[in-house]
Amino acid sequence: MNILVTGGLGYIGSHTIVKLLENNYNVICIDNLCNSNEDVIEKIKKITSKDFKFYYGDVNNKDLLTKIFKENKIDSVIHFAGLKAVGESVKYPLKYYKNNLNSTITLLEVMTEFNVNKIVFSSSATVYGKQEILPIKEDSTLHTTNPYGTTKLVNEMILKDETVANPNMSVVILRYFNPIGGHESGILKENPKDTPNNLMPYIIKVANKEYPYLHVYGNDYDTIDGTGVRDYIHVCDLATGHIKALEYMNNHQGIEYFNLGVGKGYSVLEIVKTFEKVNNVKIPYKIESRRPGDIASCYASTKKAEQLLGFKATKTLEDMCKDSYRTNND
Ligand code: NAD
Ligand code: UD1
Repeated sequence: MNILVTGGLGYIGSHTIVKLLENNYNVICIDNLCNSNEDVIEKIKKITSKDFKFYYGDVNNKDLLTKIFKENKIDSVIHFAGLKAVGESVKYPLKYYKNNLNSTITLLEVMTEFNVNKIVFSSSATVYGKQEILPIKEDSTLHTTNPYGTTKLVNEMILKDETVANPNMSVVILRYFNPIGGHESGILKENPKDTPNNLMPYIIKVANKEYPYLHVYGNDYDTIDGTGVRDYIHVCDLATGHIKALEYMNNHQGIEYFNLGVGKGYSVLEIVKTFEKVNNVKIPYKIESRRPGDIASCYASTKKAEQLLGFKATKTLEDMCKDSYRTNND
């Protein structure tokens, strides 16, 4: 089976390519390196001792996509390529709409031309906005609070409309909760090009003494210790979720939506304490005011993914904290 992976050299894409190669899929990857580096190719090959095809370029480039589909008989697509910084999306909304929406439209056009009907799409828990009822189920009402989130929601709508228009299509929307960690070899890691916004990459910079302390955004939420609660999932578990999605598409048509999370929330201070314990390192922190737009708690209902995909995360918070630091320290 030949799988086209867009954005495959990024954080989640690279870990998924490792899983795909380990499961004997042939991988064809396209990435424009706007948030990744070419050295990831060698890292993936080192871990798996397997090869894959790489095309440097933009998913918005229809000629390049056409060339890729001509040169390779693609069976399914996993579409990771996209911009993902929430704050940047508020500042430059058009950049986000142009990149994240045009890429999907172009990809779907070329898929249709070559009669390729299966696609897995990277969505996000961000499409749930603020939810009162936890754990969050896939059929909850959807709303977004920033342009990045809106691109995810509109992408879901585009894919749904395409599925209605073309009943042969099989689409799996994966709504990721909070991916952290890295490959257990220590070779692959999350490598943000700019100052990290997310919790774990920031903690790692503090552990490595690049930043003096962690800013903890609020300790007055209605949670176990007042700090924000999220559903953190190991990136290697997340990668397995994509293998399950590919298997699911082999005998299901239409569109289906799945949460990928662990189903349990941890607070910021629980993460800090676990990170300190398993890595034997101190993470100084200061409590500050709430980050605008943040919610108190967010965690997934994992039942649907368990029942229909046969997916269940296996890694513990200790594994996640250990593998996050190990990968970033080698
Ligand atoms: P990432 O930035 O590490 O990876 C994305 C990759 O896509 C990068 O290698 C980048 O160079 C490439 N890319 C972006 N636009 C492109 C384009 N037009 N053409 C070709 N390549 C392009 O991000 P990630 O964390 O691996 O996320 C992958 C996907 O999952 C994204 O769509 C993201 O929005 C989504 N997602 C991520 C998270 C998270 O916390 N990391 C959570 C929910 C959803
Ligand atoms: C962020 C994104 C969301 C995306 C999700 C997963 C924002 C506003 N939202 O959400 O769109 O789907 O990541 O990638 O960026 N925290 C600190 N100090 C820090 C960083 C974070 O205290 O330096 C706290 C936050 O207040 C929150 C928790 O840690 O309570 C997790 O934050 P983060 O990693 O940014 O993830 P989300 O808020 O879930």
